[in-house]
Amino acid sequence: MSTKGLDYESLNENVKKTQYAVRGELYHRALELQMHGKEIILTNVGNPQALGQKPITFARQVIALCQAPFLMDDPNVGVLFPADAIARAKHYLSMTSGGLGSYSNVGGLPGIRQEVAEFIKKRDGCPSDPELIYLTDGASKGVMQILQTIIRGQSDGILVPVPQYPLYSAAISLYGGSLVPYYLEETANWGLDIENLLQSVAEARSKGINVRAMVIINPGNPTGQCLSESCLKEILQFCNQENLVLLGDEVYQQNVYQEERPFISAKKVLTDMGPPISKQVQLVSFNSVSKGFWGECGQRGGYFEMTNIPPQTVDEIYKIASISLSNGCGQILVGIMVNPPKPAEISYDRFLRESNAILGSLRKRAQIMTNGFNSCRNVVCNFTEGAMYSFPQIRLPPKAVEAAKRAGKIPDVFYCLQLLEATGICTVPGSGFGQKDGVFHLRTTILPAEEHMHGIMASFKKFNDQFMEQYEDA
Ligand SMILES: Cc1ncc(COP(=O)(O)O)c(C=O)c1O
Repeated sequence: MSTKGLDYESLNENVKKTQYAVRGELYHRALELQMHGKEIILTNVGNPQALGQKPITFARQVIALCQAPFLMDDPNVGVLFPADAIARAKHYLSMTSGGLGSYSNVGGLPGIRQEVAEFIKKRDGCPSDPELIYLTDGASKGVMQILQTIIRGQSDGILVPVPQYPLYSAAISLYGGSLVPYYLEETANWGLDIENLLQSVAEARSKGINVRAMVIINPGNPTGQCLSESCLKEILQFCNQENLVLLGDEVYQQNVYQEERPFISAKKVLTDMGPPISKQVQLVSFNSVSKGFWGECGQRGGYFEMTNIPPQTVDEIYKIASISLSNGCGQILVGIMVNPPKPAEISYDRFLRESNAILGSLRKRAQIMTNGFNSCRNVVCNFTEGAMYSFPQIRLPPKAVEAAKRAGKIPDVFYCLQLLEATGICTVPGSGFGQKDGVFHLRTTILPAEEHMHGIMASFKKFNDQFMEQYEDA
């Protein structure tokens, strides 16, 4: 009998192969437990507002006015909204043809692309062309569009850091390419070793894989490291030498917690290196409103900037972008993210207070978590220099590994499931991000509210130390 197009056995095998660990087995078990009344602490996804973070007021005031422009005719509008939010809403609405309910231009509203270009110019001290900036429904959409444009088949390889954010493994599977892992060095605070990279490329080539692009996540997810300028230079030289497109995932650029480790963009380092390299390396950089102190994950706003991409390729990417236009609300949030209230404006003080409070608290939470993990038996954890995650190594005793095998589970999944059942803390096992053989981790966000942090870490320690005792003494 012939199968129908959506019968399971006739589906695209790439879809079946695709996995997404952050919403995998642990998450589904957590939802089940939650339905049965257990209190669950969801630390599996970098979703700040789901864990109580308040949106930045100015952003929501502008969005509210753009969504409901009739409010601007209300005599009380000046009581409810500050004048700069009203002016900003008018500014964005004037860029649209018919407000938020109308389709926007391919690549996004030109006025907002211009604001992004100005932000990049100011951030990096180098030119940025709005025509080479596309607004997207979150960074994920942009990453997927670019990977789809690059990957022609299984023999096309993409270098991805391991541990990695599963968007990359999922999208590469979906488009039928090959993920070429390069391992980050845990003992060097998840630094990157060029020798390692060369080895990964040589190994992939020996298997007939044509390595075409390299992904960096800076600051890192799940590993939390910020790449230094010298490291970025080495990466760019490597990409130049090996003819690789560099995909710079920079969605955590505002989430940096150590002054001596600031965020530096790949675009800046590339430009500063000067010609010929600054004119040769093909770079696509991504940013998002989901992270930073904005945390607007549900609104789906992001952008990518293309550097040294040939005009004909830009035309092809334009075509892909035109298939799914990005949403207006997300675009306006991108505008606000890159052009927040200025010192002379009414909303500035409040904006500064709110954003500093969020970043200051994230910094403290990162410290509480790292210290908490490092106080546990058989757990070691690097400090979170940036991003929103902690990625401790869990040194599972051989007897725990055997017990996991008997239960038919990957050892870190076994540990994380028991942690969830015992404490309600929902994490993601390190195997979902990739790790060296025989080494186990878990990933948690640093997002639970500051006042709950000590309690969560105490509960983790109690579970962990009992678990270790049980399996070490067994
Ligand atoms: C490294 C990294 N890139 C991209 C994304 C996706 O962000 P967005 O919500 O903008 O699609 C995430 C989300 O957690 C991320 O951690």
